[in-house]
Amino acid sequence: MNILITGGAGFIGSHVVRRMVKNYPKYHIYNLDALTYAGNLENLKDIENFSNYTFLKGNITDYSFIDSTFKNYKFDRIIHLAAESHVDRSITDPLAFVTTNVIGTVNLLNASKELWKDDLSNKLFYHVSTDEVYGSLAATGLFTETTSYDPNSPYSASKASSDHFVRAYGETYDLPFIISNCSNNYGPNHFPEKLIPLFINNIISNKPLPVYGDGNYTRDWLFVEDHAKAIDIAFHNGNRGETYNIGGFNEWKNIDLVKLLCKLMDKKLNRNLGDSEKLITYVKDRPGHDLRYAIDATKISSELGWKPSVTFEEGLSKTIDWFLENQDWLNNITSGSYKEYYSKMYK
Ligand code: NAD
Ligand code: DAU
Repeated sequence: MNILITGGAGFIGSHVVRRMVKNYPKYHIYNLDALTYAGNLENLKDIENFSNYTFLKGNITDYSFIDSTFKNYKFDRIIHLAAESHVDRSITDPLAFVTTNVIGTVNLLNASKELWKDDLSNKLFYHVSTDEVYGSLAATGLFTETTSYDPNSPYSASKASSDHFVRAYGETYDLPFIISNCSNNYGPNHFPEKLIPLFINNIISNKPLPVYGDGNYTRDWLFVEDHAKAIDIAFHNGNRGETYNIGGFNEWKNIDLVKLLCKLMDKKLNRNLGDSEKLITYVKDRPGHDLRYAIDATKISSELGWKPSVTFEEGLSKTIDWFLENQDWLNNITSGSYKEYYSKMYK
C-alpha cells in the first residue's frame, strides 16, 4: 500500500510516520509537509533513510501540486494531520487556519475523489481531528462521538468545518473515511508554543511560567505515542464512516499540572523543591478560553481494544527527560522567529 501522511514533520505526525514506517515495512509511507514553523525534519532523523519512507515537500493549499502528486504516487490511503494547530495563533490570524485546515482538507478530499473514482475498494481517508470541535464542558460530563459540535475558537471552528467536509464527501461521493477526535497530546517533539513544552523550556531557563486567567481550566492529556497507536488501530480496524474519540481518561486543572511539572523539574534539575513554582505568573486570559475538555474514549477501547499504555506521571517524566536530553532540538527551535512570536504573545 502507498500511504500518504500529511503533516508528518510536525509533533503528532512525526510519531505516526515513525510508527507506520517501522511497524509496516510492506507499506510505502509518503510524508507530505510544507515545513511551516511547526514542521521539523529533525523529528524524523532516525527513519529518514528507511527504504519504505519518502518525504515530499509541499503545501496542501496548492491544488495543482496536490493533484499531480496524487496522480504520480497513486496513494491507496491517506492519514491527514497537516494543520495549523495552535489556538492562540488562530486568535491573531484566523484566515491562515481557514486556508490550511478547511481549504487544504477540501483539496485533499477532491484529489482523493478524483484518484479513486473508478475503484473505492480498500481506500481510506483518515482524518485526524480534535476534541475542541465539541466546545467546552462545565464541571461534569464527557464528550462522546454523538456530542454536538460547538466550536469556540477560530482553530476549533476550522477543524469542525474540515470534519464536516470529510463527512459530506462520505455521504455525497461515497468517499470511505474515518475521523478521530483526540484530547490534548504531550510528549517528545512537542513544539514549545503549547503549555507543557513551553513551560519545560521556561523552567530550564528560569523564565516566568505564564498561566492564563486563574489556571482553573481543565484538559485531558494523552501521551503522543498512545495517540499514534490509536490512529494505527483505527486506521486498520475501524469501520468506515465512523468517528472515534481518543483520550487519556486523565483530566488535570492547568494549575495542578503546572505544579506537578515544577516538582518533577526541580528533582531532575537538582534544584530545591519549590524553586520552579516561584516562576508561576498569572497573566491575562486567552479570549474565548474553553473551560474544560474531557473525552469518553469507551468506543475505541471496547470496539477496537485500544487503551493508553503509560500513566500521566510516567509520560510526563519521559517527556521531561526527552527535552533535557535534546536541548539542541529545543535551542534550534527557540532561536529565530520563535523569539519574535514569544515576545509578541507574552509582552
Ligand atoms: P503541529 O503544528 O505540530 O504540526 C502540523 C504539521 O503540519 C507541521 O509539520 C506543518 O509543517 C504541517 N503543515 C501546516 N500547514 C501545512 C500546509 N498548508 N501544507 C502542508 N503541511 C502543513 O500539529 P500537531 O499538534 O502535531 O497536530 C497534528 C494534527 O492533530 C492536527 O490536525 C491537529 O488539529 C490534530 N490534533 C492535535 C492535538 C494536540 O494536542 N496537538 C490533539 C488533537 C488533534
Ligand atoms: O484538545 C486538543 C487540542 O489541544 C488540540 O486540538 C490543539 O491543537 C492543541 O494545541 C491543544 O489545544 P489547547 O489550547 O488545549 O492547548 P495549549 O497547550 O495551547 O493550552 C493548554 C491549556 O493551557 C489551555 O487551557 C491554555 C493554557 N495555557 C496555554 C499556554 C500556551 C496557559 O495557561 N499558558 C500558556 O502559555
